[in-house]
Amino acid sequence: MKKITIAIDGHSSCGKSTMAKDLAREVGYVYVDTGAMYRCVTLYALRNGLFTDNGINEDELRRQMDNIHITFRFNAEAGRPDTYLNGELVEREIRTMEVSNHVSPIATLGFVRQAMVAQQQEMGRGGGVVMDGRDIGTVVFPHAELKIFVTASAEVRAQRRYDELRQKGMEADYADILKNVQERDYIDSHREVSPLRQADDALLLDNSEMTIAQQKEWLLEQFRKATL
Ligand code: DC
Repeated sequence: MKKITIAIDGHSSCGKSTMAKDLAREVGYVYVDTGAMYRCVTLYALRNGLFTDNGINEDELRRQMDNIHITFRFNAEAGRPDTYLNGELVEREIRTMEVSNHVSPIATLGFVRQAMVAQQQEMGRGGGVVMDGRDIGTVVFPHAELKIFVTASAEVRAQRRYDELRQKGMEADYADILKNVQERDYIDSHREVSPLRQADDALLLDNSEMTIAQQKEWLLEQFRKATL
């Protein structure tokens, strides 16, 4: 059977990565978390003092882009790929509030997006990939055979992220998280380069009231239809 390309876009914290990861495992495809890539660039910028009082030192970041190598290695125990920045496992570091609070401005930079999109297209060459992000169905793979646009209310999404952080034993404050979710929604959908928007041919999934199991079933059904 021909392996298709599956693009899953949508708002932050609406369970895109869980969905994409589960679907990839179920159908034997490779899962690529493109948000993790923008988070890696952000972590790199934070560690190297590229965030200044006047904003991001863009010239320096542009110069250092070639020093940023992002790779994924499958973690059999977790059942998903782990993210590595220059060979270092950073799966935990890239999910902190500090990175979450700095990632949106990094993701608005044209030269950062250009570099990430090129790597993503390379990773997805030949199909058999489930990629989640914001611009996968619109920019990275505009011809993807199956496109899903996922959303849920900001409050539901903040609660989910809060639960996830607490579960991992990390510090979390619901009000801070809700503010972060709302701010990122705004920046992600109003930025000049590749703003978050539903592709014309994407299927809309609002999962505010859905369980993970219901969502999985729905998604598998769409996969079956797309691969008939
Ligand atoms: O999915 P996430 O929350 O890990 O994404 C982190 C940030 O990266 C988010 O603010 C939007 C941005 N992003 C993007 O601009 N384009 C993508 N394809 C994926 C993520």
